[in-house]
Amino acid sequence: MSEYQRSSAFFLLLTMKENLSKAPGPIGVFDSGYGGLTILDKIRQVLPGYDYIYLGDNARAPYGTRSFEIVYEFTLQAVNKLFGMGCHLVILACNTASAKALRTIQINDLPRIDPERRVLGVIRPTAECIGRITRSRHVGVLATSGTIKSESYPVEIHKLFPDIKVYGQACPMWVPLIENNEAHGLGADFFVQKDLDSLLYKDRKIDTVILGCTHYPLLLNRIERFVPEGVTIVSQGEYVAASLKDYFHRHPGMDGKCTRNGTCFYFTTESEDKFRESASIFLNEKITAQRIEVASSK
Ligand code: DGL
Repeated sequence: MSEYQRSSAFFLLLTMKENLSKAPGPIGVFDSGYGGLTILDKIRQVLPGYDYIYLGDNARAPYGTRSFEIVYEFTLQAVNKLFGMGCHLVILACNTASAKALRTIQINDLPRIDPERRVLGVIRPTAECIGRITRSRHVGVLATSGTIKSESYPVEIHKLFPDIKVYGQACPMWVPLIENNEAHGLGADFFVQKDLDSLLYKDRKIDTVILGCTHYPLLLNRIERFVPEGVTIVSQGEYVAASLKDYFHRHPGMDGKCTRNGTCFYFTTESEDKFRESASIFLNEKITAQRIEVASSK
């Protein structure tokens, strides 16, 4: 059996399971598209032995400009899909989904679906690290319109550090630029500089800028060019990964429900070829992907 046949057979097995099995399973990582790969990459560096399933809802990305109701509905479908594929723990590696859907899923849906399963987001772990990084206590957040409008960053940061001033700037063009492989063009420079200037103009004391969208690390070298000296750029991946490791220490029961063979399988709701091509830019390695439907998962 060839490598391709073997991985196709495994993909088939995973998608056919579709029951809430009690058996240990992989960790699910979800994003609207490719952005969550920047989080997955860091998680795998910190926790390499575990099994992972990545699901990108590329067919319906971007989520950043969608309403609360739609982001919640799409995210819940994806979470249900990943549960059905054997995951006990799902990471929403998407700030927009974390901002608009996580709380409702945790409070309203998990008790009904399976109170033993868990869904975690990326905003809380990012908020937790900020108190250690900023010296001026003036922090900026760059994110999608949805994340900025949700006010999730100021809310989460103020729960932990009420003294920190938080300013947000929506960057509606950044995700489309990245998704269309334009992250290294002149268009990217224009929009990166424009949005960064708008953020930093809000308060000259900002010394820390959070990349509050999992796509944005792909623009990191552009962003660094336009940021004044002394301003720290925070990419979330390493903090989310460290927080997950810590979560497993504090929750050995969940740790025991996550299998460890070092595998990672990729699923997309769009074209497999396009996913393979773009994901290899995000991950710097060749991967195999399988197309699946999530829309019917209740
Ligand atoms: N990567 C997602 C995030 O972290 C946003 C991408 C999108 O707009 O779908 O917010």
